[in-house]
Amino acid sequence: MASAQQLIGLIKSHAEGDEERFFDLAMQLAAAEAQKGHQRLAEQLRQWAEAGKTPSKPTPLVAPRGDLAELLSASYPTTRLNDVILAPGLSSELSLVVTETRLKERLEEKGLRPRRRLLLAGPAGTGKTLSAAALAGELRYPLFAVLLHGLITKFMGETAQKLRMIFDSVRVTRGVYLFDEIDALAAARTSHNDVGEARRILNSFLQFLDEDTGPSMVIATTNLPQILDRAILRRFDLVLSFEFPTEHAIEKAMRRRLVGFDVNKVDWGEVTRYAAGLSTADVVAASEDAARKAVLENVGEIDTNAVIASLERRRSLQGIGADTNAEGSRTLRPRGHRETKRIQGKGRRINKEAK
Ligand SMILES: Nc1ncnc2c1ncn2[C@@H]1O[C@H](COP(=O)(O)OP(=O)(O)OP(=O)(O)O)[C@@H](O)[C@H]1O
Ligand SMILES: [Mg+2]
Repeated sequence: MASAQQLIGLIKSHAEGDEERFFDLAMQLAAAEAQKGHQRLAEQLRQWAEAGKTPSKPTPLVAPRGDLAELLSASYPTTRLNDVILAPGLSSELSLVVTETRLKERLEEKGLRPRRRLLLAGPAGTGKTLSAAALAGELRYPLFAVLLHGLITKFMGETAQKLRMIFDSVRVTRGVYLFDEIDALAAARTSHNDVGEARRILNSFLQFLDEDTGPSMVIATTNLPQILDRAILRRFDLVLSFEFPTEHAIEKAMRRRLVGFDVNKVDWGEVTRYAAGLSTADVVAASEDAARKAVLENVGEIDTNAVIASLERRRSLQGIGADTNAEGSRTLRPRGHRETKRIQGKGRRINKEAK
């Protein structure tokens, strides 16, 4: 077993963000375990130490040129997975995807491939687009957002050809390619009065997705997983279901946004109960509203009432007004009832917010 000093050193270097020291200490631990004959443990330690190491050089950002420039918007996100507040299962699945890509040579030696076709499904404002950016940030890949609407409207009749250009780039220029809100295409696929362009794009998209997307990662997002059929779902290596935040996640997201303010007078139990049913984006925005107000009013302290007032404003902006009882006092709207259905073919769960 590692000594107490080694463990402290390991955790300290991680907490201080000293990646090199963390890696060295982890490798020392692995060597010590190997010497004791614990080969399997040593190998696992080495593997995770390597996986945690950020690749030294980021993939250079090649700005799309010519027609591609009208189809892809390129950026270099600095977002990390740690910035995204998600249910533990979801976070660890995303971390695993990063590890698989970082250690892809090891997988390939055994005839395996990292998962690189992801569908992120769930309600608005739950962190799907942010997660795509975080995956790019972790891998230090450029993020190429595919401008689907431009694809349909600007290139009528040539969409399959343009989509091929995008997938050629997927193969040649390593990056995270984000097809945001593909339900726009899927809706058209099932509607009887639209036999047009959107359906053709979706069918071509699925065909191209069937081919290997390596070395890039292709991420699609949707708010409406229920309209995606099996043919669509089976094309993805992983379907992840995003949900409204738990009370714990609400508190975490709000506290993060209020760093630098005195929040000792915030009753988080009351605030998070009040925020139930709002998305993470809403509670983050409400925290920003409260912070802005505090700055303008020159007060360093934010209390329960100030936070609830901001949440209330967010609710009414979203048209989800808080219920008011006969005496005019505030009552809490119960957390939205969640109906869970299984996605056939993938056996993964998608949560549908009941209306
Ligand atoms: N899980 C989360 N953790 C941290 N911040 C979040 C999270 N979800 C949303 N946010 C905040 O809300 C903003 C919008 O979130 P994002 O665009 O990722 O939502 P989305 O799920 O893609 O929504 P939509 O379906 O409307 O596209 C983010 O930039 C971030 O500030
Ligand atoms: Mg989004």
